[in-house]
Amino acid sequence: MAHQNSFFRHILCLLFISSSMLLTSVHAQVIDEYSGQETYMRYCAACHGVSAVGDGPVARGLPISVPDLTLLQQRSGASFQEDLLRKIIDGREIVVVHGTRYMPVWGYEFWVEEGGNEEAQERVDTIVDNLVEYLRSIQR
Ligand code: HEC
Repeated sequence: MAHQNSFFRHILCLLFISSSMLLTSVHAQVIDEYSGQETYMRYCAACHGVSAVGDGPVARGLPISVPDLTLLQQRSGASFQEDLLRKIIDGREIVVVHGTRYMPVWGYEFWVEEGGNEEAQERVDTIVDNLVEYLRSIQR
């Protein structure tokens, strides 16, 4: 009986390992399935802070201050400029004329994470849309 139990445990274990391998190979990319808040916490909070006021742990190490993302609307005269924000977050179309962009080029980062092909681009759009909606929800 004891032998049988451990045999079944092995089978279960193998099933578990192979199904999780299958899951990762079929869909290693799931960022587009996260909510905007989850994506924010995972990829943005390190610099912009958990409450988005620009006080993440990495911010201290940067030579410039990290913007408060709860004041985007106030700073642009009470309008929430979602198209512009999408472009800023994506970063691939934005040319930094002076100085350095310290923020990663998320459009590229997410595109690579999502597989780097044509379908990946659709998922990048979803990810960035979710982030922008999250930012909208936290404006002061
Ligand atoms: C490595 C630190 C870092 C991370 C991580 C980071 N940012 Fe930034 N972010 C910055 C800095 C610094 C700026 C100021 C512009 C610059 O130098 O790149 C900025 C600027 C911005 C701006 C423009 C704000 C304004 O006032 O115009 C937005 C919007 C933004 N970030 C959103 C995000 C989002 C969304 C994420 C996560 C996907 C993110 N950031 C992750 C550092 C970071």
